[in-house]
Amino acid sequence: MKRKLNNILVTGGAGFIGTNFIHLLMDLPDFRGRVVNLDALTYAGNPANLSELEDREPDRYKFVRGDIRDRDVLSEVFRTFDIDTVVHFAAESHVDRSIHGSSDFITTNIIGSWNLLETAREYWGEREDVLFHHVSTDEVYGSLGKDGAFLEETAYDPRSPYSASKASSDHLVSAWHHTYGLPVTVSNCSNNYGPWQFPEKLIPLMIHNILEGKALPVYGDGKNIRDWLYVEDHNRAVWAILNRGRTGETYNIGGENEWENIELVRRLCGMVAELAGRDGEDCLSLITYVNDRPGHDRRYAIDCGKIKRELGWRQTVSFNEGLGRTVKWYLEHRDWVRSVTSGEYRVWIEKNYGDRKQNR
Ligand code: NAD
Ligand code: DAU
Repeated sequence: MKRKLNNILVTGGAGFIGTNFIHLLMDLPDFRGRVVNLDALTYAGNPANLSELEDREPDRYKFVRGDIRDRDVLSEVFRTFDIDTVVHFAAESHVDRSIHGSSDFITTNIIGSWNLLETAREYWGEREDVLFHHVSTDEVYGSLGKDGAFLEETAYDPRSPYSASKASSDHLVSAWHHTYGLPVTVSNCSNNYGPWQFPEKLIPLMIHNILEGKALPVYGDGKNIRDWLYVEDHNRAVWAILNRGRTGETYNIGGENEWENIELVRRLCGMVAELAGRDGEDCLSLITYVNDRPGHDRRYAIDCGKIKRELGWRQTVSFNEGLGRTVKWYLEHRDWVRSVTSGEYRVWIEKNYGDRKQNR
């Protein structure tokens, strides 16, 4: 049965990947439907990223300030906008924060996801032309040695509070499919980078610190390996799954682009120095080895053969191109970075969106 894809609820759309997803969706020639962005606006959510859409596409883009932990809000959003598709990005997403305090990770990532599943089940009943797509992470598979890559069949072995909470939500999604027949898909993706990423994650933090002449904190020996994917490529994969993904299936998404952290930081030093007219050696001298992250996973790598074979998805942005675009974006958006690092954006949010709670 063909999926409707008319009224898409994007949760967490004011965060990094969600913002990029909504911009992509609204510009896709093959999508003329409506997007409802439900976001609680935690520290990671910034509706300014999308406010031009509220003016440009008032009928096709709606923002609702709401929390996935609040079932009443979810029910009302489903009813008001006749939601037929969910793309569930909303989560607490930063591993370091999960180590310092796991409470919101448990309530948002697990209980919030459960609320959303229950609301979808209640509203959709037996319908088959709908879809609940759950966006998850490769971190649920644990840590790799020197060789190998995660497959969709790899056993779950989450090792941080963040990854354990995402693994829990993945299991809930799968259970709601097998037990209640809810039409679902799941994707597990590797590290994303690109515009609008909060400067607490490795790449934007390093760009920001280089520009500010601050220390570049590299955890442990710097030899942990991550697989990097440009955010637009991740979002094109999600769009392919919404359109053509088989119901009940999981798809791994990755960049096939592994880097040791220290090598990546050195490369960023060179790139920022070149694009911002700085001295490369000065940038490199900012590198500072610091205490390791507790339980730091050593290596992630994704085998994304399934989504390539079944859905014809491919990465389209090379690492050189993607990093270049990202560095340029951060150079051109230093006000955005200043606003989110100083906390100024919270004042702006309360002024412009303070009365937008449950704005439906
Ligand atoms: P982010 O932290 O930038 O954004 C998360 C968004 O969710 C924010 O806008 C925040 O306000 C919102 N949110 C948090 N709690 C909420 C709640 N209770 N109710 C409603 N909204 C809430 O995260 P991101 O990097 O954009 O990641 C999005 C999703 O993709 C997450 O589920 C994450 O696990 C997954 N993922 C991220 C990466 C990555 O590299 N960033 C890779 C793979 C998967
Ligand atoms: O793999 C997908 C995951 O990637 C997503 O599920 C998470 O939401 C996302 O945050 C990301 O998790 P990581 O922990 O891999 O990302 P982070 O940017 O925090 O760190 C990347 C690597 O860099 C990791 O090995 C830790 C290291 N690091 C990170 C920071 C912030 C440093 O060495 N120094 C730092 O200051």
